[in-house]
Parts: sequence; structure tokens; C-alpha cells
Amino acid sequence: MCGIVGYKGKNEACDILIEALKRLEYRGYDSAGIALWNEGRIAIERKKGKVDDLKKIVYNNDSFKGKMGLAHTRWATHGTPSERNAHPHKADDVVVVHNGIIENYIELKTKLKDEGHKFLSDTDTEVIPHLITNHLRKGMNFIDAVRATLKELKGSYALGIIKETEKTLIAAKKESPLIVGVGEGEYFIASDVPAIINRTNRFIFLEDNDVAIFKDGTLLLINVDGKEVQRKVHEVYWTEAMAEKGGYKHFMLKEIFEQPRAISDTLIGRIKEEKGLVEFEELKLPDISKMKKIWMIACGTSYHACIIGKHMFEANLRIPVETDIASEFRYRDPILGKNDMLILVSQSGETADTIAAMKEGKKRGAYTLSVCNVLGSTLAREADGVIFTHAGPEIGVASTKAFTTQISVLFMLMLHIGKKLGKMQSDEIRNSIGEIKKIPHKIQTILDMSNVIEELARKYMGFKDFLYLGRGINYPTVQEGALKLKEISYIHAEAYAAGEMKHGPIALIDENLPVVFVSPNDHTYKKTCGNMEEVITRRGRILLFTDDNSHEMASRVDNLFILPKTIYELQPILSVVPLQLLAYYIANFLGTDVDQPRNLAKSVTVE
Ligand code: M6R
Repeated sequence: MCGIVGYKGKNEACDILIEALKRLEYRGYDSAGIALWNEGRIAIERKKGKVDDLKKIVYNNDSFKGKMGLAHTRWATHGTPSERNAHPHKADDVVVVHNGIIENYIELKTKLKDEGHKFLSDTDTEVIPHLITNHLRKGMNFIDAVRATLKELKGSYALGIIKETEKTLIAAKKESPLIVGVGEGEYFIASDVPAIINRTNRFIFLEDNDVAIFKDGTLLLINVDGKEVQRKVHEVYWTEAMAEKGGYKHFMLKEIFEQPRAISDTLIGRIKEEKGLVEFEELKLPDISKMKKIWMIACGTSYHACIIGKHMFEANLRIPVETDIASEFRYRDPILGKNDMLILVSQSGETADTIAAMKEGKKRGAYTLSVCNVLGSTLAREADGVIFTHAGPEIGVASTKAFTTQISVLFMLMLHIGKKLGKMQSDEIRNSIGEIKKIPHKIQTILDMSNVIEELARKYMGFKDFLYLGRGINYPTVQEGALKLKEISYIHAEAYAAGEMKHGPIALIDENLPVVFVSPNDHTYKKTCGNMEEVITRRGRILLFTDDNSHEMASRVDNLFILPKTIYELQPILSVVPLQLLAYYIANFLGTDVDQPRNLAKSVTVE
């Protein structure tokens, strides 16, 4: 995963790099490192742990001066988290930072060792500077040596490369994200936009096999064969404030509270209530009437949004929708062809498995449509069509506002397709639009009761296991609630379809297992009340999230939270919010690293 950043310009690089690295820390925080070029010398510092530890060293050291440099924050893949495996890596005077995986590094390393190269780390990355030096020794210039090296690598890379005897910074990309920030007389490279959004809002999204050369205040873009390529400069509407905590203790809390705004932004310009229409400016779907099947593919939280999408699409459009986890889909020889549509859902647009699923879909002739939050991301660029969730940058590793905006997009897409197919009439669409327009306000009413959830968290923070139960469209909601709790609080939480409880999990129930039920008063409500009865009989504790307090069950559960009412399709957007808050407050009480939970990274760009 890892985050990389680079700078070449008229200002001191150290501050710029450390600040950007802090913003990239969500991509990995096993170690951090920096390299600064100053008049033909490169000062390097690497540290196990977080960027702040690195900062303490370089800010008190005069060697870390210079107007060109690279930095890296690591999520360990090859080699344990340690100083020796931290980037940058150096061979002779060539210094490299890398995000990605070099698949053929063992064979390259063996060959290089046979030739006398000495390795100081266990990483795959270290072969890169050694390969470059090999070519330099044969008399190639810096740029050609880098190009020749890139041709020898198998796998994925976003690279920043500098050399002591050159005033040039080189960046290269293949299957790992890398952007160029264009400033006034200065350039930045970074793994994502928020890292440098405080410096510029003009970006070039590098494409695979692009090589960017920053020299003498200019940028030259070529491909690995040395041929010049043209890339557009995009203006990005995200602001610096969006990528900051804005007074909240954690990004996750800020992002939970941003959901009313994020959903409103996602709806704007797309819903035409009077006309009973939903339109996506950026989208040109093929002939939908020929579609035999829709697939919704993703990972983690985005996958839960897909299952919710399936419920709403099938109920309203009567088109079969198959959902799959991207890492399963890509290896299971799925049956699909040119009359299928593949919807790939991803906050980052960089999740390796989801990208692979898209490529598999394309190979088999399916139409691919991505639902992404990050402009210029791989899925956004490479799918046949794209719809953006306008959630703004999501920095907390635990996904929150991305999820509710993904559901909003899938809901609008359902209305859009429903109209095209003549399966939904304008009146029906108008009513649905009316309902989704009310969602931001309804979320706000839940957020206004966050203190109630905080108290619940205080009461339940000491439990070691939780069971989450829901039915129908709220089964994925409880899956999402359980995922949130386990990833940030490290408490074991399992989600089940409520009707499945009697097929096994019921054996777990006693007074030490809190059971979280999400059960609005829909067609499954009475059945789920039956499941609650079964839990009560076995002395289980129930936390019930429902929109109905008239059922006698409401007075028998241990804790009751009343949700605002909405239509079936939109219930998950409301019912997930208290679950996000519950997970957040429990983790906060337990003192875990909420925004950067252990072992996780925000964008999972490796398999
Ligand atoms: O960027 P993506 O939406 O593709 O990411 C998918 C998952 O990695 C992500 O949702 C992950 O499960 C989150 N940590 C969940 O909070």
C-alpha cells in the first residue's frame, strides 16, 4: 500500500514532504523515511513507526535541507516493519521510494547478488536502485537507466527516484496510483490528491507506463519507450479544509458528521425532481434493454454497499443482480459476457482486487461502470463509465461517508435505469427523489443524538464479543456495523442474517454477548422480533435500532434507539449511522488508534 511523495521547486522541501507524508499516513504507518537532495549530496533518514518520529529527527538536523526530495510511509509487504526495510532505498548514489510490489524481485536480486551487489534490506524495492546503477555503470544516462530498469520489473510500482549527481527527479507509474501536482514554479508527486491539496489544486493523473521527468523547472512526460506523452492538467474542487480534522478528535468522527453534506453534494445536479428524472452527466450507458444481468463487485465496506444495491435493483427493476467480493470474483471464472454490466464500487478507486475484477469483466466483453470517490483513480479512468460519489476526501481508514454516498449513487442509478427501461414511472421516481432529498436532514437528527450512542458505547465497551443481526436490506447494514466495530476497536463482532441465528450462532448467546439488532418496521420486522424473543429467553442483551416503538418488543430490549422513518431502499443509510457512532465511541473509549487502526491501510493496492 504505502504512500509516496516528492518535491522539486523553489522552496525548502523538508516541511512540504513531512506535511504531505502525514496526510498519506493512512496508507500505511509501519515506517517512514525521507531523502533530501542538496548540492550533490542526499541526506536520508528512516524510522520505524510513524511520521512524527521521523519528523522529530529531521526537524532538528541541519543536514535536512534542499529544494528537491522524496518521502515514504510504509505498509509492510516484503520484509518486517523495521528501519532497515524502511524506504528510501539507496544503491551507489541512486535513491528510490516505491509503492507497489515487484513480483520478480527474487530472480532480479539473485542475479544482482551474483554480480556483486550488496543488499541491506529484505524488501522487493531495493532491487530498483541496484538495477539503475547497473545501467548507469554501462554508460547510460539517468533517464535511460531508469527506463531500462522499468522494463525489467514485473509487478506494480509508483516510484520517485533521485540521484546525487543529477538535479533531476524522476517519477514512474504502473498499476499503483501516482499523481503530479502542478504549482507555481514547483512540482509535487504524491500517491493521492489530499496529500498535497494544500499546495495546489492542479493535478496530472499519471497513467500506466508514464515516466515524469522534473528538471530545470520543467516537466517532461514520456513513456517507458522514451516517447513523449500528453496528459491533461485537471482542476480538483477538493479543498485543504476537507483534508483536515476541522476541530474533531478524529477524521472518522468528522467524516461521520459530514454525511448530510456528502450526500447532498452527491445528489446535486443529478436529481430532477419536477421531471421525475435522474441524470448523470458523466455517464453514457449502453443499450440497457439488452442487459441480461448486473454484477456488483467490491471489497469491504464498498461490498456491503453492493449487497444493498442488489436488494434495491432486484426489487424495483426485476433484473438479476449478482454481488461478489472482488478477490473471489477474479479467481472464480465467472460466467459473464457482453450483455452483462459490471458495477465496481470503490471509495479509493485503487483497490487492487476491484481493479482486477474490472479487467476481468472487460476481457469478457462486459460493460464496466465504476462508482468511485477519487477523481483520476484507476477505476475512474479505466472503467467504461464512471459515477463519482462526491463525499470529499475520506481519510479515516474506517469507511463511513463513502458508504452512505455509494448507497445514494446506487439508488439514483436504479432510478435512472428504471426510467430508461420503463420499469419505473415518473411519479414513482419523483416520490423516490423526494425521499432521498430528506435523507441528509434525517441523518442530522441521528447525529444530534450522538450523546445517546456515546452513553451506549460507555456501557458496552467492556464486552469482548458482539453479535449483529438484521434481515433483508439491513443484513448488509449489520455486516457493515460489525466490520466497523472490529476494525477500529479490535473487538470481535460477527454479523448474521437474523433468520440464520437458530442455525448455529444461538449457541453463543448468554448475558456476556450483546446482540445488536437493526430492524425497522418493514416486511421482515415481525420475524426479527421473533429472533429477539429467542435472545431474551437465553438472557442475551439486546440493543435495538428500529423506526418503530409501538411493538411490545421495544419495551423489552435492554437499549432502544429510534431511527427516523424512510422507504425500504434507503433504510441502511439511516440505520448504519448509529452503528458507525457506536463503533467510534467504543474505540475512542478503549483508546485505540481510530484513524489508523493496526495492520490496516486505507487503500489496499496489493492482493
Ligand atoms: O477504496 P475501496 O472502497 O475499494 O476499499 C475497500 C475496502 O478496503 C474498504 O472498504 C475497507 O474495508 C475499509 N477499511 C472498511 O472500513
